[in-house]
Amino acid sequence: MSRNAEVRFADLAKRYESPDGDEVLALADVDLSIASGEFVAVVGASGCGKSTLLRILAGFEEASEGEVSVGGVPVRGPGPDRGVVFQDYGLFPWLTVAENVGYGPRRRGAKRADARALATRFLETVGLTRFADRYPGQLSGGMQQRVAIARVLANDPSVLLMDEPFGALDALTRSELQVELRRIHRETQTTVLFVTHSIEEAVFLADRVVVMTGGAAHGVPGHISRVVPVDLAGARDVTSAEFNEIKREIADLVHAPRETV
Ligand SMILES: Nc1ncnc2c1ncn2[C@@H]1O[C@H](COP(=O)(O)OP(=O)(O)OP(=O)(O)O)[C@@H](O)[C@H]1O
Ligand SMILES: [Mg+2]
Repeated sequence: MSRNAEVRFADLAKRYESPDGDEVLALADVDLSIASGEFVAVVGASGCGKSTLLRILAGFEEASEGEVSVGGVPVRGPGPDRGVVFQDYGLFPWLTVAENVGYGPRRRGAKRADARALATRFLETVGLTRFADRYPGQLSGGMQQRVAIARVLANDPSVLLMDEPFGALDALTRSELQVELRRIHRETQTTVLFVTHSIEEAVFLADRVVVMTGGAAHGVPGHISRVVPVDLAGARDVTSAEFNEIKREIADLVHAPRETV
């Protein structure tokens, strides 16, 4: 894909106001560039600002300081160029699977038949062609998450934002979807920002893993403490020594005492 989907966070900070009027600095000093087509995973303890980072890139939240851009264009709000997948699939229960997937293109003016063709194409990508005319409530959680992925792909996003997308799935379905997501990423070359609590999932999927620490509960703003490249050639074997070495390096960073990060 030739379009530039480089993501840049420059000097980003995010302040929230707590219900009692105090200010919470959720994120500070975030500088990160994600190359076009790169897959970056974000890990870190609860409350360190992972979702905040993703939501700012999605355009759901405004940065308090600094800037985020995609392909050199500053983010000013949500847009179909950034497809977001959450843990709860967020499908429309009253639309069929194919209608869910074709929803974005339809909204942007695609004819019914064209939206249907796009839906067919992306349901094939996620292996759900046979379920096009079912309703979300008739599918398992893993299948619904596949539909959610097909739905954002149908918008032809430059960036895919995923916030713990497989967190609610059983272990077997989760590892199936991880393998599928790697294949989809290879095929689409979309830039991906993927938030997860699972270090193993991050190392399995990503080109680089961003380790965040801090957060309100630690008395320091959430920030990036290290970016770890995953230099593993070929198919990733979660049982290999190299894989587990990277996993351990990241786990040590995630769990490091505050003074050392
Ligand atoms: N809308 C909001 N108003 C006030 N504070 C918020 C808001 N959203 C997030 N925060 C605070 O910002 C900090 C970071 O939250 P965030 O949801 O980004 O963390 P996270 O790393 O995604 O955590 P988790 O792993 O539990 O999902 C937390 O201290 C949280 O309480
Ligand atoms: Mg979160």
